[in-house]
Amino acid sequence: MAIGIVGVGHLAAAMIAGLVRSGGDSRILLSPRGKARELAGLYGLDVCADNRELVERADIVILAVRPADAPAALEGLPWRAGQVVISVCAGVALSQFPKIAARIVRAMPLTATEINASPTVFYPDIPEARGLISHLGPAIALGSEDEFEVATVNAAIYGWAQDIVRQSVIWGRDHGADEGMMRQLVARTFVAAGRMIAESPEPMERILKDLVTPGGITELGLSVLDQHGQPAAWQAACDAVLARLTTAAKT
Ligand SMILES: NC(=O)c1ccc[n+]([C@@H]2O[C@H](COP(=O)([O-])OP(=O)(O)OC[C@H]3O[C@@H](n4cnc5c(N)ncnc54)[C@H](OP(=O)(O)O)[C@@H]3O)[C@@H](O)[C@H]2O)c1
Repeated sequence: MAIGIVGVGHLAAAMIAGLVRSGGDSRILLSPRGKARELAGLYGLDVCADNRELVERADIVILAVRPADAPAALEGLPWRAGQVVISVCAGVALSQFPKIAARIVRAMPLTATEINASPTVFYPDIPEARGLISHLGPAIALGSEDEFEVATVNAAIYGWAQDIVRQSVIWGRDHGADEGMMRQLVARTFVAAGRMIAESPEPMERILKDLVTPGGITELGLSVLDQHGQPAAWQAACDAVLARLTTAAKT
């Protein structure tokens, strides 16, 4: 199978690393811009002369251009029935793409595709898309495009989580702890927190309650965060991102 990538920038670089790392036998074809030459040299991939050649040769095409460039990037190319396009362009609704012979799927990978650890939502659930996405981490099929838009907010939450890790590491360093140790400790603590919630059947409230000793340090910190407006600020940030995504999808 041949996988073509139109738009070889930051996210595509992470996806290519993950695809290569997953060890599949698919051929990867790149569109000729951005990081294409560099990545082709690194991994021994083909760079096509133009997007026409890429669409002629590929079975699945990943569209990873900036959102404003996405609809036009599919125009005027030799699409055929049986091909699948996976658009990873945030906020670009299916209705904004031109009508083409290939089926279009939306997906929202994280840069953790690079280490095959991206939980990736996608819609609609087409087997060819599921197969490719599952090489990048857990593939999560959604039932509607509205739900996909809500779930896309998680791509921003991923960045906020990294920023909280960073802040905690810097705080520890400034209070005398070794920065490298703090980086491993805090990052792996976030992995542990996530795994406990993802892998336990218990309600989330129960899992949290089990670790909040009355009068203890977790309770103290949660109450300080509450006084400083953390829960409200977090919800407001999620609302702002969803509003941006849904406005973009309607324009
Ligand atoms: N970065 C992330 O972590 C992330 C996560 C989830 C989803 N996304 C989505 O992924 C998409 C790409 O994001 P990015 O951060 O990777 O952007 P980026 O680094 O700017 O990469 C986009 C690339 O697309 C190229 N391009 C634009 N139009 C093209 C065309 N018609 N044919 C071939 N190449 C074309 C650009 O080339 P030029 O520079 O020459 O214009 C650029 O190299 C966005 O839609 C974003 O919403 C990103």
